[in-house]
Amino acid sequence: MPEALSHLRAEAEQLREQINHHNYLYYVLDSPEVTDAEYDRMLRRLEEIERQHPELVTPDSPTRRVGAAPSEKFGVVRHRKMMLSLANAMDAEEMLEFDRRIKRFLKSDEEIRYVAEVKLDGLAVELVYEDSHLTVASTRGDGVSGEDITQNIRTVKSVPLRLIVPRHHGSPRLLEVRGEVILPRKAFERLNAERAKAGEPAFANPRNAAAGSLRQLDPRVTASRPLDIFCHTPGVLEGISFDTQSEFLQGIKALGLKVNPLTRVCHGVNQVLDYWNELTEKRYELDYEADGVVAKVDSFALQEQLGEVSRAPRWAVAYKFKAQQAETRIREIAVQVGRIGSLTPVAKLQPVQLAGVTISNASLHNLDEIRRKDIREGDTVLLERAGDVIPYIVRVIAQGRPRARQFEMPRRCPECGGAIVHEEGEVAYFCVNVNCPARMRESIRHFASKTGLDIDGLGDKLVAQLVDAGLVRELDDLYRLGKPQLVALERMADRSAQNVLDSIEHSRHTTLDRLINALGIRHVGEHTARQLAVRFGSIEALMDATEDELRTVRDIGPEVARSVREYFDEPRNREAVKRLIRHLEIKAPPAPAVGRGVLRDKSVVLTGSLETMTREEAERKVLAAGGRITSSVSRKTDFVVAGADPGSKLRKAAELGVKTLEEDEFLKLLEGG
Ligand code: IVH
Repeated sequence: MPEALSHLRAEAEQLREQINHHNYLYYVLDSPEVTDAEYDRMLRRLEEIERQHPELVTPDSPTRRVGAAPSEKFGVVRHRKMMLSLANAMDAEEMLEFDRRIKRFLKSDEEIRYVAEVKLDGLAVELVYEDSHLTVASTRGDGVSGEDITQNIRTVKSVPLRLIVPRHHGSPRLLEVRGEVILPRKAFERLNAERAKAGEPAFANPRNAAAGSLRQLDPRVTASRPLDIFCHTPGVLEGISFDTQSEFLQGIKALGLKVNPLTRVCHGVNQVLDYWNELTEKRYELDYEADGVVAKVDSFALQEQLGEVSRAPRWAVAYKFKAQQAETRIREIAVQVGRIGSLTPVAKLQPVQLAGVTISNASLHNLDEIRRKDIREGDTVLLERAGDVIPYIVRVIAQGRPRARQFEMPRRCPECGGAIVHEEGEVAYFCVNVNCPARMRESIRHFASKTGLDIDGLGDKLVAQLVDAGLVRELDDLYRLGKPQLVALERMADRSAQNVLDSIEHSRHTTLDRLINALGIRHVGEHTARQLAVRFGSIEALMDATEDELRTVRDIGPEVARSVREYFDEPRNREAVKRLIRHLEIKAPPAPAVGRGVLRDKSVVLTGSLETMTREEAERKVLAAGGRITSSVSRKTDFVVAGADPGSKLRKAAELGVKTLEEDEFLKLLEGG
C-alpha cells in the first residue's frame, strides 16, 4: 500500500473511533465532551476521506448509518433464544403474591434481590453483535422469529454499530441484547405536527409512531425519525458472561449500549413497591412514555431455577401504572354532528395536562350520561385517561357558581339548522338532513379512514375543504377529483395534491369487508362488516339481502339486520353505492367455509396483540376456517387466543376452564395441525 493511503487508513480508523466515542458520550451517556462543531468537523473529514477512497469505507463506519436501499419486504430472523413476554401484576397485592410465589418455588424465605426497571412503552427488538459488530437486528415477532430490521436499526444513533471493547479485553464472540425502541415524546409531537401539515393521519401515541418508523421498508424514512433505544435483557451470550441482571446492565453499558438510568437494585419486594410509587409520581417528567415497572430477580442462577411458564418468565413481572386523573373546568358544552347525523355533546375544557398530553375536549356521549352525572357548564370535573384511551369525565367535583342551567340538546342542527329527531326512549338525537355538511364531512372521513378505504393524505382539514367548496357531496365524487380542483384549495401544493390523487387512485383496489365498513352503515363496524362480507360475497348480494337472511349471519341481531336493510332501502344510498362501486375493484373474501374448516362451529375469542398478524387478519382466518369470533369469554367459548399483554379475558378463560391457545398454537391449528 502506498504510504499516503496507509496514513489515510489510519486517520480514518482513528476518526471512526473518536466519532464512535463521542456518539456514545452524546447519545448513550447524555454527556457530550465536544461541541457540535467539533463533532461535525470530524465527521466531515471522515466523509471526505471515504469519498476520495471508497476502498477505505468499513461497514460499521459512522458515515454508513443510512445507505441501504428500500426493500420490498422484511426478511425473517429466527431468534436463537425465544423472546418471552411478561406477566402483569395489577396491584400491590399481586406484586406481593409474585414475591411469595418465587419464595415458594425456591423453597426459601430469604429476601429476594430484584432489579426494578422502567417498563418502556415501545417496540421490542433484538440486537445481535458478533465479534463486536452489529450484524442483525430484528423485531420480537411471535417470540420465535421476527422481522429483519437491521438496516433500520442502524439509523438509530444510540445503537452502536460496533461495541466499545477496552484494548486489553477480547471482543465477546456473541452478544445478543433485547431492548425497547422508543420515540421520545417531543419528537412524537413534532412528527405529528408535521404530518398534520402534510395532511397525513397522526400517530395515536409514541409507541405506534416508533413501531411505524421502525417497520419502514425505506431506511431513509426511519433515519428521519429520532428513535432511541434502551437495552434491558440478554439473549444468547458467548465469550462473555454475567452473574446478575444488574451486572449485565452495567456491563453492556460499558460496551456502549444504552441502558435506562432509572434502574434500581431492590432488596425485597417492598423496595420494588417504593420504586413503583416514585416512578408513578414522575412518569410524565420522563421524555419518553413508560407504562409501568418491570421487576426481575437479579440473580441469573435463580432466574434459571425459576424458569418460565406459558411464554413468560416466572422471575419477572410487569407492574403497570394506574390510570391518570386531573381536574379541570368545563367552559362550554358544544354539540358535534356525526356521519349518520347523530349529535354528540362534547365538553370544551379549560386545557389541562393529563397523562402527558394537553386535553381540551372530552366527549359526554349523550344526554342521559350528562343527566346521570349532572354535568353542567362551569362545573369542575375529574378527568381520567388510561394508556392511550380517550379521556373521559368521571364525575363533577365542584359545581359552578352560579350553577348553570341543565344542558339541553339543540332543537336545530348546529351545523345546518335542519330539524333534529329524537325517538322516545332512545338516547340518540339525529340531524336528518342528508346534505348536512357535517354529516358529509364525517362520512367521507370515515370512508377514507384506516379501516375504511384507507386513503392516505385525505385528512380532516382537506375533507372539510372539499365539502365546503362543494367538490365532494357524495363518495364517488372523490374519484372524479382532478389536480386543478385540488391545487385551487388553500394551502395545497402541487406535490401534495398529487399525493392525495395517488392515494385515491390506490384506494380503488379494495376488499369487500373494507368497503362495507367504509359505507358507515349504523351498527356496522369492522367486525360485522367482515361477517357480512364472508356471508354474502358481493356488495350486490348484500344490497338485496332480506332482514331474515341478514339475521342468519352469526352475531347479527335484529337491530343490525334492520339497520343494514334500512340503509339499502333508502334510494339515495342505493344510488350512491351503485355509482361508487363503478370506480372500485373489489376483492371478495374467501368463500365461506360452511361445513368444513378446522374451526367449524367453534367460537373463538381473541385477546392481546398478536405478533405475526393484525387482529383483522386473525379474525379473517378464524372466519375462513369456519369459526366465529365472539368478543367476550363464556362457558360456550371454545378457544381463547392470547397474544402479548392479554387482558382480563385470559383470566376469565382460566376461571371457566376454557382452552387458551398461544399464537403459535393458534397458527398450527389453522394450518390443520
Ligand atoms: S424484560 C423475559 N424489561 O414489555 C423478559 N421488558 O410486556 C422480557 N418491556 O416484550 C422482557 N420495558 O418488550 C423487559 N425494562 C423492560 C421492559 C420490557 C418494556 C416490554 C418488552 C416485553 C413487554 C412485555
